[in-house]
Amino acid sequence: MTHRRAAVIGCGFFSQNHLNAWNDLSERCSIVAVCDIDRAKAEAAARRFGVPKSYTNVDEMLANESLDFVDIATTAPSHLALAEACAAKGVPVIVQKPLAPDWTDARALVAALDRAGLPMMVHENFRFQAPLLRAAELVKSGAIGKVVWGRFSFRTGYDIYAGQPYLAEVERFAILDVGIHVLDVARVFMGEAESVACRTQQVRPGIKGEDHATVLLGHVGGGTSVCEISYASHPEPDPFPFMIFELDGEAGSLRVDAGCKIVWKNASGTHHETAAPEAVAWGSEPWTVVQDSVRATQRHWLDCLDSGAVAATSGHDNLKTFALVEAAYASAASGQIVRPASID
Ligand SMILES: NC(=O)c1ccc[n+]([C@@H]2O[C@H](COP(=O)([O-])OP(=O)(O)OC[C@H]3O[C@@H](n4cnc5c(N)ncnc54)[C@H](O)[C@@H]3O)[C@@H](O)[C@H]2O)c1
Repeated sequence: MTHRRAAVIGCGFFSQNHLNAWNDLSERCSIVAVCDIDRAKAEAAARRFGVPKSYTNVDEMLANESLDFVDIATTAPSHLALAEACAAKGVPVIVQKPLAPDWTDARALVAALDRAGLPMMVHENFRFQAPLLRAAELVKSGAIGKVVWGRFSFRTGYDIYAGQPYLAEVERFAILDVGIHVLDVARVFMGEAESVACRTQQVRPGIKGEDHATVLLGHVGGGTSVCEISYASHPEPDPFPFMIFELDGEAGSLRVDAGCKIVWKNASGTHHETAAPEAVAWGSEPWTVVQDSVRATQRHWLDCLDSGAVAATSGHDNLKTFALVEAAYASAASGQIVRPASID
């Protein structure tokens, strides 16, 4: 196992989870530098996490530091330029979702890493949440037979604007921010989609983008799924930050609920389990299931660097999810069904 030297770019809201998780993985890598255009944030992160160097300029950091990879945890508009800077220096990257604000930049980012012959991974952490990993294991084992229908639901009234005020300002909001996770999970359980129909709504006053989206996916092989995405719901109890989903298989059904609860049924009977996350010493409720998944995502990246395997959420894999995002926006705008294969 190689011990790696790495840097984190972006020291804002969510990167605190990345930095904590890298600390947990310190036997395998050390964060030797952090970078943020906001000097106070870069310095505060360096102090809090005992990182030796802080920078406000990525080119200066890349010129001064010898790095085995960079973790890009800034918001989407900066991802392409930062990834290109790393690629130019021969440094692999793990990049937060969404990969970019739009399809053109997302493709350009993946192409830049390809041209440089470097591995990359998208920090698409929902797949790595404990209940999803367990549900995927059950489905793969044939517990409910071939999955033919699914409902994937992330509907909350949680005040996400408190931690991420920029979300009120983006024109592509709920689908690009959290719908991208939901669509990715739909791909994991149902396979690729060949048709997308979407309606969006804006419920909260004063925001620029959609805060409700309902997406109907037609999957290759005949499966159907519904993805419900909302930051303006009032469910009781509010499951945030859990995604709830249910699957119908040819031989049974499976449901994942808040609290990491899984219930599945087949000819052998009804089974209840709790797929709790590993303990997170730095965790805080209600985030622990997410925080554990951040660490699991980062562990997967290190595993892939060690083995040379392509990451489950590689750039190319994530472009398939991104095509669903683009197709959903195109469908909402046109009122037509959109084929993801037509996104180019
Ligand atoms: N996977 C998840 O569950 C999850 C949850 C929340 C946020 N996120 C993602 O994490 C990313 C960051 O979100 P956030 O809420 O932490 O944002 P944030 O605005 O709090 O932090 C981003 C930081 O990046 C810095 N930055 C911007 N451009 C930069 C550049 N060119 N060079 C260096 N620093 C730069 C900003 O100054 C800021 O401190 C987003 O892509 C968001 O979608 C993911």
